[in-house]
Amino acid sequence: MQVPERFSNLPEYAFPRLRALLDHHAPGGPVVAMTIGEPRHEMPPFVAEVLQANTHLFAKYPVNEGIPELLDAISAWLARRYGVSVPHAQIMALNGTREGLFNAALALCPERKNGARPVILAPNPFYQVYAVAALAVGAEPVYAPATAATGYLPDYTALAPEVLDRVAIAYVCSPSNPQGAVADAAYWRSLLALAEKHDFRIFADECYSEIYRASPPPGALEVAAQMGADPERVLSFHSLSKRSNLPGLRSGFVAGGPDSIRRIRQLRAYAGAPLPEPLQHVAATTWGDEKHVDRSRALYQQKYALADRVFSHVPGYKGPDGGFFLWLPVPDGEEAALKLWQQTGIRVLPGAYLAREQDGFNPGKGFIRVAMVTPIDEIQDALIRLRDCLYR
Ligand SMILES: Cc1ncc(COP(=O)(O)O)c(C=O)c1O
Repeated sequence: MQVPERFSNLPEYAFPRLRALLDHHAPGGPVVAMTIGEPRHEMPPFVAEVLQANTHLFAKYPVNEGIPELLDAISAWLARRYGVSVPHAQIMALNGTREGLFNAALALCPERKNGARPVILAPNPFYQVYAVAALAVGAEPVYAPATAATGYLPDYTALAPEVLDRVAIAYVCSPSNPQGAVADAAYWRSLLALAEKHDFRIFADECYSEIYRASPPPGALEVAAQMGADPERVLSFHSLSKRSNLPGLRSGFVAGGPDSIRRIRQLRAYAGAPLPEPLQHVAATTWGDEKHVDRSRALYQQKYALADRVFSHVPGYKGPDGGFFLWLPVPDGEEAALKLWQQTGIRVLPGAYLAREQDGFNPGKGFIRVAMVTPIDEIQDALIRLRDCLYR
């Protein structure tokens, strides 16, 4: 039977590739998983109670765009965090940001841009859903290196004007996965000016926004509001997975211009999977609480300090400004991941699995990604063993 051609060049997903690389070798010590970005700090204490109080709502089809309590809580959070006023009509509840990052492209990428095939921009390396979204809508994915030379964020301003004129959507992740780079207000301002000039939308993946080293990363919505930008320029994606250690709740949201959100809602009403209402109540309570977020962030900040101490003598080491990944330079990421597994039992992800080769260069190849999700009392030992294996 026939299958679509457009996904034929898609590489195997990172985790099956990792299993193929490692699993026929025995671990060289107690297994420590530092591969997947699955937070393991404590969940907020009220989850079970709120869920129990709302179990009767499993008997109902859930509200597509989000129950009013959830939209209220998100709107209040956006006001507290970024000083922006976002009404319900500009928010859509998501089943986690991954589906939203994908479905928003379906809802908003035009068939043609300036008479040609549209382009979707993604940083390289990047969170893999961006590429699949581009392929699904028939756009040409264009990857911009996000390396030391560009401050680990994509420099879209360096792209040729002919390419920029075809751009429909530009994905940006801040704090970025995998490098932990934070876009400052100047970065957002320059990107917004570029988007205005070449008439494209910015999809700001800000799901690590609450995990940071020193000061809260500025948000795309906040900078857009300060500039008086067209509200349709930016869609900002947030999640409870990382902020609140609830990756299994599958709860996030997208906020942006009213027309964009209306189109996203319409498509999801036909084909989407709304978040069950009892879970929407849990999400509403969770956006309203910062105590658990502060506690979790304090643990990540201890982890940053620990990583800085352990890797201070490693040439090219740069601790993350946000998020919970270390992006460590090595001669070859696959070789390093295999050596580490065979000699210590620590599992990390080769950076190349998160990037695309362009002009013979894969910007992730000389890196491994280390998820600092391991509990605080185990992480020091794991990082020291990692350093001693790869850098001694
Ligand atoms: C950069 C980035 N964006 C989005 C997501 C998706 O998060 P969720 O769907 O759990 O909200 C992740 C999860 O790992 C991520 O790393």
